[in-house]
Order: sequence, then C-alpha cells, then structure tokens
Amino acid sequence: MMQVTLRQLRTFEAVARLRSFSRAAEEMEVTQPTVSKQIRLLNEQVGLPLLEQLGKKVFLTQAGEELYATCADWLDTWGRFEQTIASLKGLKQGRLKISAVTTTKYFMPRILGPFCARYPDIDIALEVVNRDRLLERLARNQDDVYVMGVPPEGLDTESEPFMENPLVVVAPATHPMAGRKGIPFAELAQEPFLVREQGSGTRMTMERMFQARETRLRIRMELGSNEAIKQAVAGGLGLAILSRSTLNLDRSRSELAELDVEGFPIMRAWYLVRPKGKQLSVVAATFLEFLRDHLELLVRNQ
Ligand code: PGA
Repeated sequence: MMQVTLRQLRTFEAVARLRSFSRAAEEMEVTQPTVSKQIRLLNEQVGLPLLEQLGKKVFLTQAGEELYATCADWLDTWGRFEQTIASLKGLKQGRLKISAVTTTKYFMPRILGPFCARYPDIDIALEVVNRDRLLERLARNQDDVYVMGVPPEGLDTESEPFMENPLVVVAPATHPMAGRKGIPFAELAQEPFLVREQGSGTRMTMERMFQARETRLRIRMELGSNEAIKQAVAGGLGLAILSRSTLNLDRSRSELAELDVEGFPIMRAWYLVRPKGKQLSVVAATFLEFLRDHLELLVRNQ
C-alpha cells in the first residue's frame, strides 16, 4: 500500500498542470522547496519518477501521466465531498472550474459578476480556450462546467442548450453588399474570408457550411482571435463569419455591418456540456441553477 497524502497529490497536480515548480508554489502559496519535498516524497512512494525536468521545463513521465489522470478524478471527488460538507453546514463555498470557448468571453463575464456577488465564498477559475483545447480538458475531466458552441458528437457527454448563438456574415460598413437584402450565397462565396484558427468551433461550422454547399471557401487570412478578425474586416481585408455575440457592443457606431445573406444567420446555440453521468459538485450545481435563472442578463447583451 502506498502512503500518499492529499497534500502530495494536490502539489503534484499543480506542478503537472502548470508544468512548473515555481508557479505551483505560487498558486499553492508555499515555498518552492516545500513543493520539491512533496514531489520527492510522492516519488518515493510510487517508486518511479513522475516528472522530468529539462532546464526550466517540466515533463510528465508515463507514470506521471497516469497519476495526473488519476489525480484529476480523485481531487474532483474530494472537492465534491468538501463542498457537500460545507453545504450541510449551510455554506456555499469552494472552487468552481469553468472551461469556455474563446467566443464566450463576450458574455460569460456578465453572468460571473453577479454570481460572485451573490456567492462571495465561491472561487472561480475560468479557462478560455478554443474548441479543441476545451475537448482535451473535457476528456481529462479537468473542470466542472464546459461551455461551447459545437458539442462533441460522441455518446459519452450530455449537452444542454441554454442560449441562441447565431453565426452571421460580417463586412465593413462601407462594403457594397452592406444594406442589400437576400444576397445569394454564391455571390458571398466569391469574397475573400478572414477565418479563425483550426480547432475553433466558429471555423468548423463555417467550413461545414461551405462543404455542404460544395463551394470553395476563399481564405485570405487566418487569425487567432475574433477581435483580430473584426479589426481586419474593418480594415477592408475581407469578410468574416462570426458569432453575433462578438458584435454586441455599440452597434450604432460600429465600422462593421451584418450582411443579409441567404442561409444566414446560421442558427445555433450555446451549450453546457458535461461527461455523461458526472456527478455535479454543490458549487457547480449552484452555478448552473443561477445561469438558468439569470439568462436575461446574457440575452440582453446579445
Ligand atoms: P470558438 O467556438 O470560440 O472555438 O470558435 C465558438 C463557437 O463554437 O461558436
């Protein structure tokens, strides 16, 4: 039987996740020698090296990868237990880990503000990543709640739509198509496009639409963020297909126009996704209930 403590596992999880002893020490508010000591004790118990350090970089060995996957499940179960106990004592406290795709940054903070005000003892860690990175986190069971626009197709997740997420065609306000009604898709397809990076849900939906219509997508440039794309569209570099959430602010003064094209907007939804059968922690259930009850905070800004 290995004699392993919760503290050692927490330390290892932080080092493995952050790939750094110093950042783990900072996050855990302890010194770096304390982190090294916990890892050494854990190594001794496991009997195989867990981490390899090359220069400042930390890599996981195969045993380390195995332990990291186990840790995620184990700490998740323990965290749920702690939250249940706090809840039995009448407190809502603990850590809520949310992974959300890049485009949600236009609305997620609007719900998190009032949520934090209502539950000041719940700490939130919001990870904003693209769809591919989010699916990796989901597979590793790293978070409590996942928010995305294109849920995975496998059977091992459950998805719940909670708000509309239309994709629209964006052009500079001065573009000759701006203001025209019912622009044929074939005409739109002649235009050069600015697209998000591979792995983005927006990019995937856009490519699927062009494929379904057997039309070539003319990509002028690939850019890694919605904001960069909006600036490039305003600068006249091409058109883009983006979530309407990205256009919400100050539409009257915008340099951008939404085009009225046949087949658009592509009507989609934002989804809450979780591994099938995953037991929700008290704080995650509290957040989901709050989100469902306060949807108008989000919809108002769409
Ligand atoms: P993305 O996802 O930010 O990865 O493009 C957004 C979406 O699917 O709508």
